[in-house]
Amino acid sequence: MCGIIGVAGADDATSAVLLEGLSNLEYRGYDSAGIAVGGDEVEVEKKEGELSALKRALAGRTLDGAVGIGHTRWSTHGPPSDENAHPHTDESGRVAVVHNGIIENYRALRDELEAKGVSFSSETDTEVVPHLIAEALDAGADPESAFRRAVERLEGSYALAAVVAGTDAIFAARHDSPLVLGIGDGAHYLASDIPAFLERTRDVVYLDEGEFAVLTPGDWRVEDELGEPVEKEVETVEWTAEQTGKSGYDHFMLKEIHEQPKALRQCLRGRVDELEGRITVEELDGLDAPEEVHFLACGTSYHAARYGALLLQEAGVHATAFLSSEYATSLPPIARDTLVVGITQSGETADTLSALRKARGRGVETVALTNVVGSTVARECDHVMYIRAGPEIGVAATKTFSSQLVGLNLFVEQLLADEPRNRDVRELVSALRDLPGQVQEVLDESRADEVVEEFMGAKSFFFIGRGVHYPVALEGALKFKEITYEHAEGFAAGELKHGPLALVTEETPVFALVTGDGENARKTIGNVKEVEARGAPVVVVTDGESDAERYADSVLEIPATHERTVPILANVQLQLVAYYMARRLGRAIDKPRNLAKSVTVE
Ligand code: M6R
Repeated sequence: MCGIIGVAGADDATSAVLLEGLSNLEYRGYDSAGIAVGGDEVEVEKKEGELSALKRALAGRTLDGAVGIGHTRWSTHGPPSDENAHPHTDESGRVAVVHNGIIENYRALRDELEAKGVSFSSETDTEVVPHLIAEALDAGADPESAFRRAVERLEGSYALAAVVAGTDAIFAARHDSPLVLGIGDGAHYLASDIPAFLERTRDVVYLDEGEFAVLTPGDWRVEDELGEPVEKEVETVEWTAEQTGKSGYDHFMLKEIHEQPKALRQCLRGRVDELEGRITVEELDGLDAPEEVHFLACGTSYHAARYGALLLQEAGVHATAFLSSEYATSLPPIARDTLVVGITQSGETADTLSALRKARGRGVETVALTNVVGSTVARECDHVMYIRAGPEIGVAATKTFSSQLVGLNLFVEQLLADEPRNRDVRELVSALRDLPGQVQEVLDESRADEVVEEFMGAKSFFFIGRGVHYPVALEGALKFKEITYEHAEGFAAGELKHGPLALVTEETPVFALVTGDGENARKTIGNVKEVEARGAPVVVVTDGESDAERYADSVLEIPATHERTVPILANVQLQLVAYYMARRLGRAIDKPRNLAKSVTVE
């Protein structure tokens, strides 16, 4: 996601310290960057694209001042552009603000400010903040109170930092988005992540929820929501530079697996109303339930597409998941009232773009379900829904897959919201609310590393599941082969006896997904017995609702939940299985051989 750096009282030129901090944050992924340097006046430079574009825009100039803030943006509201890049300013240019997170009530605030004659220069949610600060300054508030007043109006998540002309201070606040202070000798720093300032100081102060901070060259203080001083502990970090890019994890893949609770919360934010038991995806407002849905996707996204098709079929809508490359090769009949949905985390996969273009050529409406704002798929489709997983750097898709599955639940309910099918989504809403915490539980308690130790040297690995677990079995096998380079296949559990069973021996561990205690579980247990009888070691991923454990050599447990969210939990165990096996084999986990993160050729 986005990155923040701030400095008060830099020993070098302020702009140089900010650029250094932004460069340390590049690993997070971004699509634009900018800085603001404050003192008597506020100077801003910002640019779409890489940091090199911002440096070119500065054309060798250094901006110096008592304080400065910088930002790398990963778009959520409005595509990447110079205007949408942070910092954002008020109309007079007295106030500059950088922000991580999502301001949920920005639309209402923007309408209110526009009605008062304020003109906006970006499409972002963030821009309301400098205008609110300016409004409070005009009403006579001092800069610190003006900042507080603005923050009081905000709903959503934010890590915010602001500078105001004529004030040698940075004002900062955090709510649901991290901020950390760096305490140097005569200079003080602020960042979304420690690596931003690690070369300059290792002494840090973590801001807690709802806290405010004020940094000046000679001082720093933290206050609570009521303005009462908070005594904070200064801690010293002992990390190496290599570790910090991955926040202490050995690989980006592991970091991204662990980011899933946060990614899912981001995906759900503002879309799920627990009190009303309602799901709304604002950006798809007005999209009616079609007669038929075609999902187009590749790789992991195709597995998400299969899951999405199952959800719609269950609701009585004709839905099919197609591999984009096959769809583009032999276009199937497309009825007039078909909605074509491209699922692609990167938004740049050539096969999916080509298939979508062919469908558009038939005059049907298209939707993009993607992670990357402003990507080609987002620009070319009629409607876009973002999964908001944050940048994914490891080639293996992990948090984006989980976010796609959650996003598909929201997509389906939005599509069917006006249908007279009397859908009760209360149970789903409550399961979605609990999901991030349950994913955390799986991450904290998984025994995947121990389990895979038993299977070093095995010949092939099979993954089996039924219904909503079938796409997860396919995904488990894809992840496994992609990063371990070992042979793995995913099968519909019921298909084993129609051929693949011939491959099953003592040397082929089978991972079986068995949840609930209904017909699917009973039948899958039957399939588990079939492979067990051929001597295959069996690992069951289960919520303990059936007696599947009795037939297993090892068990990977997941919490019981709604049948639509349970595959997401099961998949987290399989991500860890793949990761730990690849680690034991010493593979290039983040950049597996022959593969690329974004596949831009057909
Ligand atoms: O960006 P996309 O979602 O369109 O990418 C599609 C596939 O290339 C991708 O999911 C690939 O299968 C993953 N690297 C698997 O982990």
